[in-house]
Amino acid sequence: MRAFVAIDLPAAVVDALELVQAAIPCGRLVPADNLHLTLAFLGEVDTAALSVLHEHLTGVAAAPLDLTLAGLDLFGGRAPAVLFIQARGAGLTALHDKVRSAARAAGLQLERRRFRPHVTLARFKPGMGRGDQARLGRFLEGQADFALPPVPVDHFSLYRSTLRPDGARHEALATYPLNG
Ligand code: 2AM
Repeated sequence: MRAFVAIDLPAAVVDALELVQAAIPCGRLVPADNLHLTLAFLGEVDTAALSVLHEHLTGVAAAPLDLTLAGLDLFGGRAPAVLFIQARGAGLTALHDKVRSAARAAGLQLERRRFRPHVTLARFKPGMGRGDQARLGRFLEGQADFALPPVPVDHFSLYRSTLRPDGARHEALATYPLNG
């Protein structure tokens, strides 16, 4: 199955992000149920490996953290692919490193990418027209200072992602407390 490890967001944060999303002028919005901060994308994982990973994730010792979402930006530069809000919080990168170590200990191969903690809000098909590019630029300028107050995070989760014609469906398989 396709799996990933992520931090889910408190309802108040999801509500606030939905308000911002409503003003995004183009692209495909990520549904409220799918808004999350990815710690590690695992790709296709078989049930046996997932069960070993679960054991290792259960052993992750990390402290709760305060998560701040602030700053809208694009991945893809001149050919925008994703609009996201940046995430930061003391301990976030350490948690990411521990999750990656757990995945490696479970024998999983992970993509090598610099960790840029974020929550994806919208995705864009390649070949965005000039009109949409201009509207998107104006939207980002108007929202330059957008920031949410820090929220406490006391757990993270292992998710299954099922791809469907109408979009991905995410299902939490297990949740791990941050109480280390
Ligand atoms: P993102 O949306 O924040 O970029 C589940 O598919 C999640 O894993 C996605 O929401 C995505 O996070 C993240 N992810 C990272 N690398 C991925 C990849 N190569 N393919 C699909 N999802 C990936």
